[in-house]
Amino acid sequence: MHAIVVRATGGPEALTYTEHPDPVPNPGEVLVDVTAAGVNFIDVYHRTGRYPLSLPFVIGGEGAGTVIAAGEDVEGVSAGDTVAWTNVMGSYAEKVAVPVSRLVRVPEGVSAETAAAVTLQGLTAHYLTHSVHEVKPGDDVLVHAAAGGVGLLLVQIAKLRGARVIGTVSTEEKEKLARQAGADEVLRYEGFSEAVRDLTGSGVHVVYDGVGAATFDGSLASLRPRGMMALYGQASGPVPPIDPQVLGQHGSLFLTRPSLAHYVATREELAWRASDLFGWVAEGRLKVHVSGRYPLAEAARAHEDLEARRTTGKLLLLP
Ligand SMILES: NC(=O)c1ccc[n+]([C@@H]2O[C@H](COP(=O)([O-])OP(=O)(O)OC[C@H]3O[C@@H](n4cnc5c(N)ncnc54)[C@H](OP(=O)(O)O)[C@@H]3O)[C@@H](O)[C@H]2O)c1
Repeated sequence: MHAIVVRATGGPEALTYTEHPDPVPNPGEVLVDVTAAGVNFIDVYHRTGRYPLSLPFVIGGEGAGTVIAAGEDVEGVSAGDTVAWTNVMGSYAEKVAVPVSRLVRVPEGVSAETAAAVTLQGLTAHYLTHSVHEVKPGDDVLVHAAAGGVGLLLVQIAKLRGARVIGTVSTEEKEKLARQAGADEVLRYEGFSEAVRDLTGSGVHVVYDGVGAATFDGSLASLRPRGMMALYGQASGPVPPIDPQVLGQHGSLFLTRPSLAHYVATREELAWRASDLFGWVAEGRLKVHVSGRYPLAEAARAHEDLEARRTTGKLLLLP
């Protein structure tokens, strides 16, 4: 098969398209023919070594496809099933061995390509809106990078839960997309916390911040007393250390740095979130915006586009 291998960490050129031995499923795993692999910012962190992995490795953690064969001790999944997964390294490839514990079944009415586009970022938007902060009708919610992969899904799910959503974006095109997704107000980053105060009076109940360094201080200043600062990413760079007193000065705020893995830690939790997600997609209540489809061999171009802030919604690699 072909795969994207990282032999030494670095820029997009570190992604090499190469022949690679087919994976062999261990007990409890299935072998999947990959229809599409999802591109995520975490792949950039793996490629550059910000999140270190032992070299060499086949990069990519998300995808969807058709089960070809099952290893020993596999029950309930068989050849021909359409499945999706996240947090399984080796996904930028034509084939991948996936532990059954990480699989989600893709229901009728949802294509494998859509499943590859929505699984990681959709599960993230789900736990952020249902568990990190349970969004309630009437909540004021601030979503940074509202036209991004997680952002467009956060906007829609927060709206499904009855919130008023304020988004931030960098361009007019991104503003249009965020509004189409349901954002009530869309701001540019410059002076956003003052604009949020003008719109809400006392500030928002929760900030979903995947931008990090560039927005962190303004995010704290946008929250109402006892509000929740959900720092789930760092597209602009990591946030420097902070003095906890700052949380008191801004009004007894909560700060969390959550990761998807801890919110899909059990089969039950993964199944609950995936079932909500795919249900909304199948019913047409959650739209999945794929802005780029790249041949697997052009993974480096997908990373360049993502890092250069040129993309909206989701990017997919097609083996
Ligand atoms: N904790 C978790 O469980 C979890 C799960 C998924 C993703 N994440 C993290 O969430 C963040 C967003 O992920 P994503 O896949 O949804 O990406 P994305 O939002 O599709 O892409 C990043 C966006 O961030 C904005 N941005 C602002 N400053 C930037 C900069 N200096 N460089 C690049 N982008 C910048 C850009 O939108 P504008 O041009 O509109 O500003 C850009 O399009 C990443 O840090 C990712 O690792 C975390």
